[in-house]
Amino acid sequence: MADYVQLLVRLIHVFFGLVWVGGLVFFGHAVGGAMRKLPGPIAGPASLAIGKRMSNLFAIAAPVTVVFGVINQYMIAGNIAYEGSLWNISLGASLIIGVVMLILGFGVSRPSLMKLIALVEARPAPAPGTPPAPPTPEMVAIQQRMMKAGMTVTALGVIAVVLMVVAVLARNGML
Ligand code: HEM
Repeated sequence: MADYVQLLVRLIHVFFGLVWVGGLVFFGHAVGGAMRKLPGPIAGPASLAIGKRMSNLFAIAAPVTVVFGVINQYMIAGNIAYEGSLWNISLGASLIIGVVMLILGFGVSRPSLMKLIALVEARPAPAPGTPPAPPTPEMVAIQQRMMKAGMTVTALGVIAVVLMVVAVLARNGML
């Protein structure tokens, strides 16, 4: 029975970890890259709509990954320790990275996105036949902050995945 619970815990951790970090890479590379090539009046609303859906998904996937990672560790080892073996050290490092990612995500990226959406929605609709007004300096500043935080979180996520591979290899005596 415990084996099935452990399998489920592991599946939840790995699945949401992949959704989180895979989603960040996909959003930054595919969506961000494509949007930069589209005209502003199309790219702006599309980026905000996709960004909102991604952010809602990350708001679930991110904490679930970290919490189930710790539960996974407990189910494998019977304790939660972050020193001693390479396995423990890589899990400790990924926990620190995961928490920093959560802080940046919930503290910078998500609130910035919501602020940007609120600012865009508060603008009066452009007169028929006229293009929408360009983004204000405040909007550009928020956008830049969001991009910096997004790139940092993505890079940290990739490092976390590398640490997970190190952990698996260490536990199997291959490192
Ligand atoms: C920060 C984002 C994280 C991501 C994207 C992530 C992703 C992954 C992935 C893809 C695996 C699959 C390896 C496998 O089972 O073959 C894994 C395994 C694992 N993760 Fe994470 N993880 C993260 C954070 C954490 C944290 C914070 C902990 C706990 C402190 C943790 C604990 C574990 C454990 C114990 C395993 C199994 C390792 C083994 O089989 O020896 N993870 N993780």
